[in-house]
Amino acid sequence: MSTSDAVRNPLFARLYHRVSALAEDAGQREHRRELLAGLAGRVVEVGAGNGLNFRHYPADIEEVIAVEPEAYLRARAREAASRARVTVRVVDGLAERLPLDDGSIDAGVFSLVLCSVPSQLAALAELRRVVRPGGELRFYEHVRGEGATFARFQRAADVVWPCIAGGCHTHRDTPRAIEGAGFEIETCRRFSFAPCSALAPIKPHVLGRARRA
Ligand SMILES: C[S@@+](CC[C@H](N)C(=O)[O-])C[C@H]1O[C@@H](n2cnc3c(N)ncnc32)[C@H](O)[C@@H]1O
Repeated sequence: MSTSDAVRNPLFARLYHRVSALAEDAGQREHRRELLAGLAGRVVEVGAGNGLNFRHYPADIEEVIAVEPEAYLRARAREAASRARVTVRVVDGLAERLPLDDGSIDAGVFSLVLCSVPSQLAALAELRRVVRPGGELRFYEHVRGEGATFARFQRAADVVWPCIAGGCHTHRDTPRAIEGAGFEIETCRRFSFAPCSALAPIKPHVLGRARRA
């Protein structure tokens, strides 16, 4: 099976391309800037979607390798890459099987992706393989809420949410998975963000940095 066949979400991809523009105007653009500030060297962005991060990479970065398995989003990412001020190479690939050598990367970026991969464990282990010792992981993800009532609401939402949102899950404890995969979290800012009420189940967010142990 080719990588492109592994993630096929043509309807969700088109919806995401439209809705993500609204989220940018509601504050997501600022989150992306914060996520990528100060990055350097060779960076892999896993599940780059339609490339909304590309314009926010620091100008002196060496190269961004943007891995995106979904064909429609990958095409939109290539358009965004052609407008970026840094070199962005958009490639087909999966979080679980990155087309990169061991320890060949200075930093990895997960941005609204660890909710959607089939296994966070597999995706994080693969990122750890390609990032050099002492390298960075930058993350911006929506996550399980801290209150028990809200977490129950998210568990209920997860019965249908993945079917309508391209495999996305609302109820994942992503910071815990990051630490469990051999990254030391250095900063992790928690905040609420939902550009519209339909996105209430994915309101709790984290944004931070971790170091590959
Ligand atoms: C919600 S979108 C986020 C896109 C982008 N990272 C952003 O910040 O806007 C989730 C992305 O994860 C990608 N994705 C889903 N499963 C994946 C996998 N196994 N490996 C890599 N990317 C995956 C989807 O194709 C989609 O582009």
